[in-house]
Amino acid sequence: MENQNEDQKQVVLVTGCTSGGIGHALARAFAASDCHVVATTRSLTSMEDLKNDPSFYLQELDVVSDHSVQKLMSNVISKFGRIDIVVNNAGLQCVGPLAEIPLSAIQSTFDTNVYGPMRVIQAAVPHMASRKRGKIVNVGSVAALAPGPWAGVYAASKAALHALTDTLRLELRPLGIDVINVAPGAIKSNIGTNAAANYTKMPEWNLYKPFEAVIRDRAQFSQGINSTPTDEFAKKTVATLLKKNPPAWFSYGKYSTIMGIMYHLPLSLRDFILRKAMKC
Ligand SMILES: NC(=O)c1ccc[n+]([C@@H]2O[C@H](COP(=O)([O-])OP(=O)(O)OC[C@H]3O[C@@H](n4cnc5c(N)ncnc54)[C@H](OP(=O)(O)O)[C@@H]3O)[C@@H](O)[C@H]2O)c1
Repeated sequence: MENQNEDQKQVVLVTGCTSGGIGHALARAFAASDCHVVATTRSLTSMEDLKNDPSFYLQELDVVSDHSVQKLMSNVISKFGRIDIVVNNAGLQCVGPLAEIPLSAIQSTFDTNVYGPMRVIQAAVPHMASRKRGKIVNVGSVAALAPGPWAGVYAASKAALHALTDTLRLELRPLGIDVINVAPGAIKSNIGTNAAANYTKMPEWNLYKPFEAVIRDRAQFSQGINSTPTDEFAKKTVATLLKKNPPAWFSYGKYSTIMGIMYHLPLSLRDFILRKAMKC
C-alpha cells in the first residue's frame, strides 16, 4: 500500500475506459490533473495505449459481475488504501421500438446502465464513508430529459440512473460523500458503432417494418459531424468534478442546452418536435 502521508493525490476510478470513448478521455484528463487513475475496461487490450504510463493503474472490470466489482475494489484498496472518486461511465445505447424490442435487450441495458453503477457504488461507499469523504459521479444522459422514439430503453435506463443519483445525493451527504450527475450531450465516442453492432442482433420488426431505416439510424444519432470532441468534454467535466464544491448536475456538449429546454416544454410541443426529428 502507498504511504498516504506522502501521497496526497486523489485516487479516481473510472469505468468503461475503452480507447476512443468518453471514459478513456476522462481517465486521461484526471491523470493530467495529477490524480492516480484506476482505469478499467472489460478487457485490458481495449486501453493498451495507457499501459506504460505510471499515472494509470489498469484493471479489468465488468460492471454486471459482482465478483469482478468486488475483486477490483479489493485491488484498489490494497494498492492505494483509499478511493476518492468513482466515475460510473460504462454504459451502452440500445435501439428499437418498445412494443417489439426483446425483453432480454431491455434487461441487459438496465444491467449495465443502472445495476452496474449501483453495484460499483455499493462496493465503494463503505471505503469512502470510513474516511467521511468521497465523490460519486454517475454519467447519465440528456436523452433522459426528452425520451424520444427508438431509444426508449436507453432513455429509461438513464432516467432511472438520474433518479437514483438524486436520492444518493441526499442519502450519502451524512456520510460525507458528494454525488454528481454528469449528463453528456452528443459526444464523439464508440457509442454509435457499438449500438449499431448490437442492433444487428435485433429481430426483424413486425409492426415497425416501415421505420426500419430511421430506427437503425438512431444508433448513430449522437455521432454526427457536429458532436462535441471527446477530449473537450472530458477536460470541462474533470475541471468541474475536481472543484472543492462541485455542482450536483453538470451537462455539457452538443444538444445539451436544447435538451434542457425540451425538458420544460409542454408535452404536445415536445412530442411534435420529437416526432418530426425521428420521423415517427
Ligand atoms: N457519446 C455520447 O454522445 C453520450 C451521450 C450521453 C451519455 N453518454 C454516456 O457516456 C458513457 C460513455 O459512453 P461513450 O459515449 O464513451 O460510449 P462507448 O465509446 O461505447 O464507451 C462505453 C464504455 O462502456 C463500456 N462497457 C459497456 N458495458 C460494460 C460492462 N458491462 N462493464 C464494463 N464496461 C462496460 C464499454 O466497454 P467495451 O468497449 O468493452 O464495450 C466502453 O468502454 C455511457 O454511460 C453513455 O451512456 C454518451
